[in-house]
Amino acid sequence: MISDLTAAALRGLDPETAHRATIAALRLLPKVAASVDDARLETRAFGLSFDNPVGLAAGFDKNAEVFDATPGLGFGFVEVGTLTPLPQPGNPRPRVFRLLEDRAVINRYGFNNVGHASALERLSRRARIGVVGVNVGANKDSADRIADYVAGVKTFAAVADYLTINVSSPNTPGLRDLQEASALRELLARALAARESAARRPPLLLKIAPDVKLEELDEIVRVARDAKIDGMIVSNTTISRPETLRSNLAKQAGGLSGRPLFALSTQRLAQTYLRIEGQFPLIGVGGIDGPEAAFAKLEAGASLLQLYSALVFEGPGLIQRIKEGLAARLAAEGAKLATVVGRQAAEIAARPG
Ligand SMILES: Cc1cc2nc3c(=O)[nH]c(=O)nc-3n(C[C@H](O)[C@H](O)[C@H](O)COP(=O)(O)O)c2cc1C
Repeated sequence: MISDLTAAALRGLDPETAHRATIAALRLLPKVAASVDDARLETRAFGLSFDNPVGLAAGFDKNAEVFDATPGLGFGFVEVGTLTPLPQPGNPRPRVFRLLEDRAVINRYGFNNVGHASALERLSRRARIGVVGVNVGANKDSADRIADYVAGVKTFAAVADYLTINVSSPNTPGLRDLQEASALRELLARALAARESAARRPPLLLKIAPDVKLEELDEIVRVARDAKIDGMIVSNTTISRPETLRSNLAKQAGGLSGRPLFALSTQRLAQTYLRIEGQFPLIGVGGIDGPEAAFAKLEAGASLLQLYSALVFEGPGLIQRIKEGLAARLAAEGAKLATVVGRQAAEIAARPG
């Protein structure tokens, strides 16, 4: 197990090198099932069962190299990717920055990944422990971006427990335009048609940016509901820069994640939850760095959670702390996880933005 001490040592390296070292270490771990979680944390969503609701967000295991090791770290699920049809190098280095004082990360990786074929080869040999989602995107130079998503659905339907259509990365120019209603309608129709014609039909989720305006969110949810997708993930990183940021790296271009993303992403989550009216579940992601933040995401409307940035600062001990805190809070209230989902959504949605 990569200890929190090792995590501290890795912080001495530049962030991309530290990340690569962590992936290399995780590849060496035995593929074990997680230790048993508190029964209060068990949950179901999209027709899948989860031992606990805490997932590893997309971007950590971009190339589907360490998904079998993540249950052993305590995660209830993992989302690999973003994967594009062809391998691509992404943007020049440096392209990821730790904002230590702000407990935040800025990245402008630009979908560096090994491409579909290489990831599929590894996913085909899955140990079938834990829940593994596959997040798909489009190549930067693609002539038909929607066709890239369709290819992702076709390629990974056989091996993914769920699929995520990622139209929300800020680091591929123009990608987020696919969130606009008419483009999104076409994208979801073609992606769902591809899923229907596959032999296995995993649930299909849409991951959105926190930077969409409320009128845009109205449209996105309307299109998503009409198309009958299975869920949404709220949210990706933000291109906004809260005034509270103190680090001198805050002006770096890219998507901001971690603690300063929490308020914005949680409000968008609550606003999405209210618009969904129970049609499908949501995954809440953005700035979860402890049990309080995790519980607040559930109350804002998330049935499942994901995190990434806080791992950089806290190490993997964070996962156990979150799970213990959530279980204790549910026990104290005598509540089931599902009953707290969305109960504060109206209040959080209405906070001044
Ligand atoms: C270094 C880095 C790389 C990321 N890469 C991806 C990606 O390839 N695809 C994606 O959908 N999200 C990606 N994300 C976004 C995360 O999945 C998540 O939505 C976001 O970081 C907010 O969660 P957090 O505050 O817990 O990090 C990335 C985030 C980081 C920090």
